[in-house]
Amino acid sequence: MTGEIRRLRDLKELSESAAGHVVDLITSTVKEKNRFSVAVSGGGTPKMLYELLATDYAGSVNWKLVDIFFCDERYVPYNDSQSNYRMVKEKLLDRVPIPQKNIHLIPTSHSNPDRSAQMYDEEIRSHFGTGGSSFDLVLLGMGKEGHTASLFPGSPALDETVHFATAVQVPAVPPNRITLTYPVLNRAAEVSFLISGKDKAEVLKDILRGTVDFHRLPAAGVRPLDGKLIWWIDLTALPED
Ligand code: 6PG
Repeated sequence: MTGEIRRLRDLKELSESAAGHVVDLITSTVKEKNRFSVAVSGGGTPKMLYELLATDYAGSVNWKLVDIFFCDERYVPYNDSQSNYRMVKEKLLDRVPIPQKNIHLIPTSHSNPDRSAQMYDEEIRSHFGTGGSSFDLVLLGMGKEGHTASLFPGSPALDETVHFATAVQVPAVPPNRITLTYPVLNRAAEVSFLISGKDKAEVLKDILRGTVDFHRLPAAGVRPLDGKLIWWIDLTALPED
Protein backbone atom coordinates (compact mmCIF):
# COMPACT_ATOMS: atom_id res chain seq x y z
CA MET A 1 0.00 0.00 0.00
CA THR A 2 1.25 3.48 -0.75
CA GLY A 3 0.04 6.45 1.18
CA GLU A 4 -1.47 7.18 4.52
CA ILE A 5 -5.07 6.26 5.30
CA ARG A 6 -7.32 8.48 7.39
CA ARG A 7 -10.50 6.66 8.36
CA LEU A 8 -13.51 8.87 9.15
CA ARG A 9 -16.99 7.98 10.28
CA ASP A 10 -18.97 9.69 7.55
CA LEU A 11 -18.77 12.40 4.91
CA LYS A 12 -19.30 15.12 7.51
CA GLU A 13 -16.40 13.95 9.66
CA LEU A 14 -14.26 13.40 6.56
CA SER A 15 -14.99 16.94 5.32
CA GLU A 16 -14.31 18.54 8.71
CA SER A 17 -11.09 16.68 9.18
CA ALA A 18 -9.87 17.36 5.63
CA ALA A 19 -10.83 21.06 5.93
CA GLY A 20 -8.73 21.43 9.09
CA HIS A 21 -5.84 19.71 7.35
CA VAL A 22 -6.11 21.89 4.23
CA VAL A 23 -6.12 25.07 6.31
CA ASP A 24 -3.07 23.93 8.30
CA LEU A 25 -1.30 23.10 5.05
CA ILE A 26 -2.14 26.51 3.56
CA THR A 27 -0.90 28.24 6.73
CA SER A 28 2.40 26.37 6.90
CA THR A 29 3.07 26.63 3.14
CA VAL A 30 2.28 30.35 3.05
CA LYS A 31 4.62 30.89 6.00
CA GLU A 32 7.37 29.18 4.05
CA LYS A 33 6.72 30.36 0.45
CA ASN A 34 4.20 33.18 0.74
CA ARG A 35 1.98 31.35 -1.79
CA PHE A 36 -0.17 28.21 -1.97
CA SER A 37 -1.35 26.43 -5.13
CA VAL A 38 -4.07 23.82 -5.10
CA ALA A 39 -5.73 21.80 -7.86
CA VAL A 40 -9.33 20.94 -7.04
CA SER A 41 -11.78 18.35 -8.36
CA GLY A 42 -15.47 18.22 -9.15
CA GLY A 43 -17.86 15.48 -8.09
CA GLY A 44 -20.04 15.29 -5.02
CA THR A 45 -17.60 14.28 -2.30
CA PRO A 46 -15.60 17.54 -1.94
CA LYS A 47 -18.65 19.84 -1.85
CA MET A 48 -18.90 19.89 1.94
CA LEU A 49 -15.16 20.50 2.27
CA TYR A 50 -15.42 23.50 -0.09
CA GLU A 51 -18.37 24.83 1.90
CA LEU A 52 -16.48 24.51 5.17
CA LEU A 53 -13.53 26.38 3.68
CA ALA A 54 -15.95 29.13 2.64
CA THR A 55 -17.64 29.36 6.03
CA ASP A 56 -16.08 28.00 9.24
CA TYR A 57 -12.52 28.36 7.94
CA ALA A 58 -12.82 31.36 5.59
CA GLY A 59 -11.19 33.76 8.06
CA SER A 60 -8.23 31.43 8.70
CA VAL A 61 -6.91 31.70 5.14
CA ASN A 62 -5.26 34.61 3.35
CA TRP A 63 -7.06 33.99 0.04
CA LYS A 64 -4.94 36.57 -1.79
CA LEU A 65 -2.04 34.13 -1.55
CA VAL A 66 -3.94 31.08 -2.78
CA ASP A 67 -4.05 29.95 -6.43
CA ILE A 68 -6.78 27.58 -7.53
CA PHE A 69 -6.34 25.23 -10.49
CA PHE A 70 -8.64 22.43 -11.68
CA CYS A 71 -7.80 18.73 -11.93
CA ASP A 72 -10.32 18.38 -14.72
CA GLU A 73 -13.13 20.22 -16.41
CA ARG A 74 -16.12 19.18 -18.44
CA TYR A 75 -16.05 20.78 -21.90
CA VAL A 76 -19.13 22.90 -21.33
CA PRO A 77 -19.67 26.63 -20.70
CA TYR A 78 -18.76 27.76 -17.19
CA ASN A 79 -22.39 28.46 -16.33
CA ASP A 80 -23.49 24.94 -17.29
CA SER A 81 -24.74 22.84 -14.37
CA GLN A 82 -22.10 20.21 -15.29
CA SER A 83 -19.17 22.63 -15.05
CA ASN A 84 -16.71 21.85 -12.27
CA TYR A 85 -15.80 25.53 -12.11
CA ARG A 86 -19.43 26.42 -11.56
CA MET A 87 -19.69 24.00 -8.64
CA VAL A 88 -16.45 25.19 -6.98
CA LYS A 89 -17.45 28.80 -7.58
CA GLU A 90 -20.84 28.34 -5.92
CA LYS A 91 -19.53 26.35 -2.97
CA LEU A 92 -16.30 28.25 -2.35
CA LEU A 93 -14.94 30.89 -4.71
CA ASP A 94 -17.91 33.27 -4.69
CA ARG A 95 -17.87 33.26 -0.91
CA VAL A 96 -14.25 34.12 -0.13
CA PRO A 97 -12.12 37.18 -0.99
CA ILE A 98 -9.99 35.43 -3.60
CA PRO A 99 -8.82 37.64 -6.50
CA GLN A 100 -10.15 36.47 -9.89
CA LYS A 101 -6.56 36.38 -11.23
CA ASN A 102 -5.78 33.61 -8.73
CA ILE A 103 -8.42 31.35 -10.29
CA HIS A 104 -6.90 29.38 -13.14
CA LEU A 105 -9.74 28.11 -15.29
CA ILE A 106 -9.44 25.36 -17.85
CA PRO A 107 -10.56 27.02 -21.11
CA THR A 108 -13.68 25.36 -22.52
CA SER A 109 -14.80 27.59 -25.35
CA HIS A 110 -12.36 26.80 -28.18
CA SER A 111 -13.67 24.77 -31.08
CA ASN A 112 -10.62 22.55 -30.60
CA PRO A 113 -10.30 21.04 -27.07
CA ASP A 114 -6.69 20.05 -27.80
CA ARG A 115 -5.85 23.74 -28.01
CA SER A 116 -7.50 24.33 -24.62
CA ALA A 117 -5.48 21.52 -23.09
CA GLN A 118 -2.30 22.99 -24.55
CA MET A 119 -3.16 26.43 -23.14
CA TYR A 120 -3.74 24.97 -19.69
CA ASP A 121 -0.47 23.06 -19.87
CA GLU A 122 1.26 26.36 -20.68
CA GLU A 123 -0.54 28.17 -17.88
CA ILE A 124 0.59 25.59 -15.31
CA ARG A 125 4.17 25.68 -16.57
CA SER A 126 4.34 29.46 -16.55
CA HIS A 127 2.87 29.58 -13.03
CA PHE A 128 5.45 27.20 -11.57
CA GLY A 129 8.43 28.20 -13.71
CA THR A 130 11.25 25.85 -14.57
CA GLY A 131 12.38 24.91 -11.05
CA GLY A 132 10.36 21.67 -11.04
CA SER A 133 7.90 22.84 -8.39
CA SER A 134 4.23 21.97 -8.71
CA PHE A 135 1.00 22.05 -6.73
CA ASP A 136 1.23 22.21 -2.96
CA LEU A 137 -1.95 20.19 -2.86
CA VAL A 138 -4.03 18.18 -5.32
CA LEU A 139 -7.51 17.20 -4.19
CA LEU A 140 -8.83 14.20 -6.07
CA GLY A 141 -11.89 11.98 -5.97
CA MET A 142 -12.40 8.51 -7.36
CA GLY A 143 -15.26 6.99 -9.35
CA LYS A 144 -16.57 3.49 -8.71
CA GLU A 145 -14.67 2.16 -11.74
CA GLY A 146 -11.42 3.69 -10.48
CA HIS A 147 -11.25 6.88 -12.55
CA THR A 148 -9.76 9.99 -11.04
CA ALA A 149 -9.80 13.55 -12.40
CA SER A 150 -11.00 12.63 -15.93
CA LEU A 151 -8.50 9.79 -16.28
CA PHE A 152 -10.72 6.81 -17.08
CA PRO A 153 -9.81 3.10 -17.43
CA GLY A 154 -8.15 2.32 -20.76
CA SER A 155 -7.77 5.97 -21.81
CA PRO A 156 -4.73 6.92 -23.94
CA ALA A 157 -4.29 9.84 -21.48
CA LEU A 158 -2.97 7.34 -18.93
CA ASP A 159 0.17 6.90 -21.01
CA GLU A 160 0.84 10.62 -21.35
CA THR A 161 4.37 11.32 -20.20
CA VAL A 162 4.95 14.90 -21.34
CA HIS A 163 1.85 17.08 -21.36
CA PHE A 164 0.34 18.28 -18.09
CA ALA A 165 -3.18 18.56 -19.51
CA THR A 166 -4.94 16.70 -22.28
CA ALA A 167 -8.33 16.55 -23.98
CA VAL A 168 -10.22 13.28 -23.43
CA GLN A 169 -13.45 11.59 -24.38
CA VAL A 170 -14.80 9.61 -21.46
CA PRO A 171 -17.59 7.08 -20.95
CA ALA A 172 -19.51 9.46 -18.69
CA VAL A 173 -21.66 12.55 -19.04
CA PRO A 174 -20.54 14.90 -20.43
CA PRO A 175 -18.03 12.91 -22.52
CA ASN A 176 -15.74 15.77 -23.62
CA ARG A 177 -13.33 16.88 -20.94
CA ILE A 178 -9.88 18.25 -20.22
CA THR A 179 -7.88 16.50 -17.53
CA LEU A 180 -4.56 16.91 -15.79
CA THR A 181 -2.24 13.95 -16.32
CA TYR A 182 0.08 11.84 -14.17
CA PRO A 183 3.22 13.87 -15.07
CA VAL A 184 1.86 16.89 -13.21
CA LEU A 185 -0.32 15.16 -10.59
CA ASN A 186 2.61 13.08 -9.45
CA ARG A 187 4.81 16.13 -9.02
CA ALA A 188 2.57 17.57 -6.30
CA ALA A 189 3.85 18.07 -2.76
CA GLU A 190 0.68 16.38 -1.52
CA VAL A 191 -2.20 14.49 -3.09
CA SER A 192 -5.28 13.91 -1.00
CA PHE A 193 -8.01 11.58 -2.24
CA LEU A 194 -11.46 12.16 -0.74
CA ILE A 195 -13.51 8.97 -0.93
CA SER A 196 -17.04 8.36 0.29
CA GLY A 197 -19.72 5.88 -0.79
CA LYS A 198 -20.07 2.12 -0.64
CA ASP A 199 -19.83 1.69 -4.43
CA LYS A 200 -16.13 2.60 -4.13
CA ALA A 201 -15.16 -0.04 -1.54
CA GLU A 202 -14.42 -2.89 -3.97
CA VAL A 203 -12.13 -0.87 -6.20
CA LEU A 204 -10.49 0.85 -3.26
CA LYS A 205 -9.53 -2.51 -1.78
CA ASP A 206 -7.56 -3.37 -4.94
CA ILE A 207 -5.94 0.05 -5.13
CA LEU A 208 -4.86 0.10 -1.50
CA ARG A 209 -3.27 -3.31 -1.93
CA GLY A 210 -0.96 -1.49 -4.32
CA THR A 211 -0.65 -4.10 -7.04
CA VAL A 212 -3.15 -3.05 -9.68
CA ASP A 213 -2.49 -1.81 -13.17
CA PHE A 214 -3.33 1.87 -13.49
CA HIS A 215 -4.73 1.22 -16.97
CA ARG A 216 -7.51 -0.70 -15.23
CA LEU A 217 -7.89 1.54 -12.19
CA PRO A 218 -6.43 4.98 -12.99
CA ALA A 219 -6.47 6.22 -9.38
CA ALA A 220 -3.71 3.66 -8.78
CA GLY A 221 -1.41 5.65 -11.06
CA VAL A 222 -1.37 8.63 -8.73
CA ARG A 223 1.86 8.12 -6.80
CA PRO A 224 3.56 11.40 -5.95
CA LEU A 225 7.24 11.07 -6.81
CA ASP A 226 8.42 13.15 -3.90
CA GLY A 227 5.21 14.12 -2.20
CA LYS A 228 2.73 12.77 0.29
CA LEU A 229 -0.32 10.67 -0.58
CA ILE A 230 -3.28 10.69 1.80
CA TRP A 231 -6.51 8.71 1.46
CA TRP A 232 -9.44 10.27 3.34
CA ILE A 233 -11.99 7.46 3.45
CA ASP A 234 -15.30 7.29 5.24
CA LEU A 235 -16.73 4.09 6.68
CA THR A 236 -19.12 3.56 3.76
CA ALA A 237 -16.19 3.32 1.33
CA LEU A 238 -13.78 1.52 3.61
CA PRO A 239 -13.06 -1.96 2.26
CA GLU A 240 -13.51 -4.87 4.64
CA ASP A 241 -10.25 -6.77 5.18
C1 6PG B 1 -15.33 15.09 -12.07
C2 6PG B 1 -14.31 14.78 -11.03
C3 6PG B 1 -14.15 13.28 -10.85
C4 6PG B 1 -14.65 12.97 -9.44
C5 6PG B 1 -15.00 11.51 -9.30
C6 6PG B 1 -15.59 11.20 -7.94
O1 6PG B 1 -15.18 16.03 -12.79
O2 6PG B 1 -16.35 14.38 -12.09
O3 6PG B 1 -13.22 15.55 -10.99
O4 6PG B 1 -12.92 12.73 -11.05
O5 6PG B 1 -13.69 13.34 -8.50
O6 6PG B 1 -15.93 11.18 -10.28
O7 6PG B 1 -16.82 11.84 -7.84
P1 6PG B 1 -17.68 11.80 -6.50
O8 6PG B 1 -17.00 12.63 -5.51
O9 6PG B 1 -19.02 12.38 -6.93
O10 6PG B 1 -17.79 10.36 -6.11
